[in-house]
Amino acid sequence: MKITYYGHSCFSVQVSGKTLLFDPFIRGNELAKGIDINGILADYILVSHGHDDHTGDLVYLANKTNAMVICSWEIMLWLNNQGVKNVHPLNVGGKHAFDFGTVKMTFASHSSSMGDGTYAGVAGGFLVQAENKTLYYSGDTGLNQEMKLIGEMNPPDIALLPIGDNFTMDAADAAMAAGFINCKHVIGLHYDTFGFIKINHQAATEKFEKAGVKLTLLNIGGHIAI
Ligand code: NI
Ligand code: MN
Repeated sequence: MKITYYGHSCFSVQVSGKTLLFDPFIRGNELAKGIDINGILADYILVSHGHDDHTGDLVYLANKTNAMVICSWEIMLWLNNQGVKNVHPLNVGGKHAFDFGTVKMTFASHSSSMGDGTYAGVAGGFLVQAENKTLYYSGDTGLNQEMKLIGEMNPPDIALLPIGDNFTMDAADAAMAAGFINCKHVIGLHYDTFGFIKINHQAATEKFEKAGVKLTLLNIGGHIAI
């Protein structure tokens, strides 16, 4: 698995010869100015919830790449109205086997609506199992007890968790979440993009160290192989 970071909560995962893009939001992100959106490839686009900082470039990239979008039923309906038809709907607790591996939609304690106010179902996250590895992308979420089920059932090899506070978990809560899901390596997301979520990187890293968990903060455009 190769994970490439495009800023905020957007990243791609190359696995089983396919490219999975998560929560596309590039052009609206000042910090991601160095990323050329037209250089981003996707066979699948996974969308955790409707908020603009996760869907800002969804329609553009879905049309450009013709990727299959994996999202809630309600986001599928909204996408269909935008002319995007290549969509696979999931709901919390359900999974589906795709050609690259399996995706299960997980619980997230967060809200969800599209930028125009359209109801977007519930917010979620994704558990991706492919190439004998498990990746957990929590989406925007507060710390919650449901995460313990992931630790019992599918401890991930890598977890991508929000650490920016205000709208989601902070680093201390995310370090505790890593314990709940029984995962020793976290990539931090959803921090620094705008004022409310600017964080001290060193302090965040120390919260994870204390919990015995490795925190990776990728540069925008950077990547890591696991
Ligand atoms: Ni959100
Ligand atoms: Mn968000």
